[in-house]
Amino acid sequence: MSCGVSPDSPLLPLPVNHGTVRSHPGPVPAVGRSHPPIGATAPPCVIGREAGHYGDRVDEAGAGRRRQNEVYRAGVYGRSPRVPVGIRRLQERAKRALDARAYAYVAGGAGDEVTQRANRAAFDRWAVVPRVLRDASVRDTSVELFGRRLPAPLLLGPVGALELVHPEADLAVARAAAATGVPMVFSNQGSRSMEECAAAMDGSPRWFQLYWSTSDELVESLVHRAEKAGCDALVVTLDTTMLGWRPRDLDLGHLPFALGKGIAQYTSDPVFRRLVEERAAAAGPRDAQPRPTPAAVRALVTMARAWPGSFRENLRSPLPRAAVETFLAIYSRPSISWDDLAWLRSRTKLPILLKGVLHPDDARRALDEGMDGVVVSTHGGRQVDRSIAALDALPDVVAAIGDRAPVLLDSGIRSGADVFTAVALGARAVLLGRPFAWGLALAGEAGVRQVIEDVVGEFDLTLGLTGHTAVDQLGPEILRRVG
Ligand code: FNR
Ligand code: LAC
Repeated sequence: MSCGVSPDSPLLPLPVNHGTVRSHPGPVPAVGRSHPPIGATAPPCVIGREAGHYGDRVDEAGAGRRRQNEVYRAGVYGRSPRVPVGIRRLQERAKRALDARAYAYVAGGAGDEVTQRANRAAFDRWAVVPRVLRDASVRDTSVELFGRRLPAPLLLGPVGALELVHPEADLAVARAAAATGVPMVFSNQGSRSMEECAAAMDGSPRWFQLYWSTSDELVESLVHRAEKAGCDALVVTLDTTMLGWRPRDLDLGHLPFALGKGIAQYTSDPVFRRLVEERAAAAGPRDAQPRPTPAAVRALVTMARAWPGSFRENLRSPLPRAAVETFLAIYSRPSISWDDLAWLRSRTKLPILLKGVLHPDDARRALDEGMDGVVVSTHGGRQVDRSIAALDALPDVVAAIGDRAPVLLDSGIRSGADVFTAVALGARAVLLGRPFAWGLALAGEAGVRQVIEDVVGEFDLTLGLTGHTAVDQLGPEILRRVG
């Protein structure tokens, strides 16, 4: 993508750039107006940092004003954003676009969804006290994480089974991530393989999220593939050793994986495929024939699509169904313990972050065991109802380990203002979840990209409008507890 405001773009008589024209670039070094996405050697795509030169003019719009300019200029021609900018309308529109099962799977949470609401309510208990007259004309939204400079303290979290939402699923997300330079965390429950997504991302950053299956050999194979696919870090999700109790999905009798959706990391794995072949060989002929109801036929068709190779042959093959059964049998391992993480630590040099940590003692132990960071998360309230909200757990975890390793915050991020609050409370970066899935539902790659740009844009404006010019200026002292 072009991160800059093109000097060639038709400038409408809107008062969008007036305050940003000055002859000196100010204290933050000005960078070129257009950047490639992050590459091995390329500079980061500083969505929010650039000051583009127009001869002796300097545009210091930053990500927020650039996004506003785009939208308001298009508005003059009667065009409004394809994807609503505000989270409520975004989710409502996605709900209308999706079938009931897909919407329930993405929107739903554990139990009565108290944790999900708590994740949001936790943000409302904090308020920022803006400061004025501090020259926030040039802002730098970038942060460094594991040796990479990222355009903003933002990653796309691992979200599985995205084929429910859009046919291009993870691939569209990978392209949007690469276009903006924001890292994508590949889900272990992806609908496209990590290799396919990585191939669409050039050198832009990607991580891999691991679920620990009952086969250590499969775990090792997935980790090895993540290394080869250029992932910068591993995220081991610990809060989903079993799926949580999810009434919306239970009422619909719907689990995507049982239909072969969201198992592409498995069907593309040599160890998993061997396990499937062994299972199919061991099965009797009766096992190969489900009752031929219309739903069962539809399920078989979906499963046949999920298995690599010819769809026609897959329809007759026992392997697609054996793949689903193998997946259901090996996902996941509730007995996972610290010993397993020591085993993983000895097998990869990649940074390892533990996702789903909420207790400071677990965070301390993680670092003592050689882990490199934690993601404070409730899995979007999908696992334990009446759990502590992620944001409420953040300060204690930061106090415990924040000086030793990055603490990331996940669960409840809906806007740039939320990113701001989480970073002020000590998060080095945050993971975005459902909002990008809604963008995907409405407009595929472009929808994900717009959601990213909106969140980063608002973050940039919040930074400046509260009197800050860089992310490392944010700390708890700029917030007041108001609830
Ligand atoms: C998830 N999440 C998730 N987490 C993970 O580690 N691996 C996964 O495969 C998935 N899959 C998944 C699917 C869907 C549909 C959702 C909504 C979530 C959890 C995700 O990474 C993140 O923790 C939550 O989305 C954060 O909550 P919010 O901010 O989206 O409400
Ligand atoms: C979920 C699993 C896939 O939350 O993480 O649905």
